[in-house]
Amino acid sequence: MTETVFTYAAPGLKFGRGASGEIGWDVQRLAGRPDARVLLVTDPGVAATGHPERVAAGCRDRGLDVVTYDAAHVEPTDASFAHAIDFARDAGPFDAIVAVGGGSAIDTAKAVDLLLTNPGELMDYVNAPVGGARAPEHPLLPLVAVPTTTGTGSESTTICVLDVLALKVKTGISHERLRPTLAVVDPDLTMSQPAMVTASCGMDILCHALESWTARPYTSFDAKLPEQRVPYCGSNPIADMWAEKALTLLAGAFRTAVRDGSDAAAREQMALAATFAGLGFGNAGVHVPHACAYPIAGRVRDYRPAGYPQDEAMVPHGMAVVMTAPAAFALTFAASPERHLRAAELLGAAPAEAPGAGRDVLPTALRTLMRDVGLPSGLAELGYGEGDVDDLVEGALKQQRLLATAPVDVTADDLAGVFRASLEHW
Ligand SMILES: NC(=O)c1ccc[n+]([C@@H]2O[C@H](COP(=O)([O-])OP(=O)(O)OC[C@H]3O[C@@H](n4cnc5c(N)ncnc54)[C@H](O)[C@@H]3O)[C@@H](O)[C@H]2O)c1
Ligand SMILES: [Fe+2]
Repeated sequence: MTETVFTYAAPGLKFGRGASGEIGWDVQRLAGRPDARVLLVTDPGVAATGHPERVAAGCRDRGLDVVTYDAAHVEPTDASFAHAIDFARDAGPFDAIVAVGGGSAIDTAKAVDLLLTNPGELMDYVNAPVGGARAPEHPLLPLVAVPTTTGTGSESTTICVLDVLALKVKTGISHERLRPTLAVVDPDLTMSQPAMVTASCGMDILCHALESWTARPYTSFDAKLPEQRVPYCGSNPIADMWAEKALTLLAGAFRTAVRDGSDAAAREQMALAATFAGLGFGNAGVHVPHACAYPIAGRVRDYRPAGYPQDEAMVPHGMAVVMTAPAAFALTFAASPERHLRAAELLGAAPAEAPGAGRDVLPTALRTLMRDVGLPSGLAELGYGEGDVDDLVEGALKQQRLLATAPVDVTADDLAGVFRASLEHW
C-alpha cells in the first residue's frame, strides 16, 4: 500500500525589518521567566557586523542574562560542534538559546541545544551509518534562530549539518526536536552579506525550491506507521505552494541583491524567498544536487572563494549544491516535465525553441543565472577533474536519505554522468 498521509510542521515566525530588536521579549515569553539566562551563538564574521551584540544588548535591556559564544565555525565540523558544546556545558545552565548568523551559526546552536538537554555525545545522534542515529528523548531548550544570510532556511528545518573530519564526509543530525522554536527573520541583518555569500546562499534557496518542487510525491512512498514518518515526506501540496512562491520572489530579486547589496527591497525579497523555500523543503526534502554537494564540499583541496574566511579551503554549501543542478534537472526531467518547465517559466526562462527540447530549458536557465551572479564556471574551477568522478560518485551514493527523495531511481552511472556534465558549464 502506498502513503496517503503527509505532515507539515514549522516554527513560529516573525518577519520584517526591525524584528530582531524584539528578541528579548520573545525569549522571556518562550523561556517563561523575565530573568532567563540566554546563550547567544554566532560566528566571528557575523560578530564583526555588530548584529549579535545589538541583539544581546536588546535582551539585556529587558533584564535577561546573555552569554555569547562567537566562535562557531563557518561550515561546521564535528570538532567545531564539540568546541561549542564544551563552552556551553561550562558556561551553563541556560534557559534559552539565540542563534544569530547563517546556517553555520544556527546549526551549531542546534547541536549545542541537543547536547545540553540530552545525554551522550554528538556522534550518538549523527545520522547512520556515520553515527548512532539516536533520537533525542528530552525536549530541547527554546531556540530562537535569527538568520543573517538569505539561504539555508535552517531557521525552519529539523537538521543540522556537519563535516566529520576524520572520515572526510558531510552528514547531519535530523530530528523534529531540532526545529527552532521561533524564526526571527529581519532583512536588515542580511544587508551586509558579501556579494559571493549572497550569490552562493541564493543558489541554496533556488535548489531548495527546485528540489522540493520536483521531489518524489509523498503518495509514491510505501505507507508508514505514524512513528515511522520522517520530517521529509516528499513533495506535497503545502510544500509546493512555498516552493513556487520562493521561485517567483527569487526571480525578481536575486541578480539585483548580488549586484547592489544596499538595495533594501531586493534584500527583503531574498529574505522572504529563503524563508519560503525553507518552509517548503523543510517538509518535502531535497535530492540529487544536495546529495552531490556533500562530496563536492567534503573533498575540496585548495579552493578559497572571495567573501568567505580565507584560512582554509572550502566550497560554500550553496555553490556546492548548484554546481550539479543543471545536469541533475536534465536527469529528473522525464519524471515531471510540466514541473521542470513551470519552474523555468517562474525563473523567467524563454520556452523551448524546438519540440522535444524541453529537457534543456531549466538547465539553460540555471547556467545563465549562475553566470550572471558570478559563480565559478563548473567543478573544474573548484579543482576537480575527470579523475575525481569515481570518488565524487562514491560520496554522493552515501547520501541515500536524499537520493530516496529523487523522482527517478539514481544509479552510480547516472551520478557519474551528472558530475562529468558539471565540470564546465561555459
Ligand atoms: N540546517 C539546514 O537546514 C541547512 C540547510 C542548508 C545548509 N545548511 C548548512 O549551513 C551552512 C551554510 O550556511 P550559510 O550558507 O547560511 O552561510 P554561513 O553561515 O556559512 O556564512 C557564510 C559566511 O558569511 C558570513 N556572514 C553571514 N551573514 C553575514 C552578514 N549578514 N554580513 C556579513 N557576513 C555574513 C559568515 O561569517 C561566513 O563567513 C553549511 O554548513 C550548510 O551545510 C544547513
Ligand atoms: Fe541547502
